[in-house]
Amino acid sequence: MPEIRTGRVRVAVLISGAGSNMAALVDAGAVTDASFEVVLVLSNKAEAGGLAVAEAKGVPTALLDHALFGKDRAAHEQAIQTVLEAHGVEVVALAGYMRLLTAFLVGRWAGRMLNIHPSLLPKYPGLDTHARAIAAGDAEAGCTVHLVTEGVDDGPVLGQSAVPVMADDTPASLGQRVLAAEHDLYPRVLGDFCRSGMSLPDPSPLRRGDARQPCE
Ligand code: GAR
Repeated sequence: MPEIRTGRVRVAVLISGAGSNMAALVDAGAVTDASFEVVLVLSNKAEAGGLAVAEAKGVPTALLDHALFGKDRAAHEQAIQTVLEAHGVEVVALAGYMRLLTAFLVGRWAGRMLNIHPSLLPKYPGLDTHARAIAAGDAEAGCTVHLVTEGVDDGPVLGQSAVPVMADDTPASLGQRVLAAEHDLYPRVLGDFCRSGMSLPDPSPLRRGDARQPCE
């Protein structure tokens, strides 16, 4: 049974892959005056490298492989919800969680679920954001932390960070630069969000992306 500490917002991080953003959040939540702590890392994929990273950091992990639920998204999300409740989670942070969520889980966590996306939304919702920024000749790219709503990569923006696009950038090199910015932005924005009692920045920039599907 994990120790229940008071004073810090209890955050679950949902991942599907390497979990470098998750690691940044865990580390930021472990400092003395942090406003949050990561109490659970949950993956929908057994092969997610982030699970071992979280375990090495002493964070409880859960694996809920969506493939075992077939097409039953509702059952998968209900299972996620049960684990989140069991860990006393107050805020959910999606960090490379590459599976679309339905209205059930999004509605259950309305105003309490954040996502990081590797573009300056509303530009480039969906996949291949870095290739699209390079193809468009953009001078800058970046990342966005936003509240999760039923729209894809949509919802009120909580923070953004821009990086330059270099003339010789490939999607991989630009992705590395953006990822480094993500590791700085996400802990900062989540920290402010939890410190402010989960309120939106003022004014809250509500915007809409297009309906491209980013995930499975
Ligand atoms: C990050 O770049 C994150 O912004 C992106 O996946 C990567 C996960 O890396 N998320 C999305 O594209 C979601 N739309 P990580 O597992 O090392 O944190």
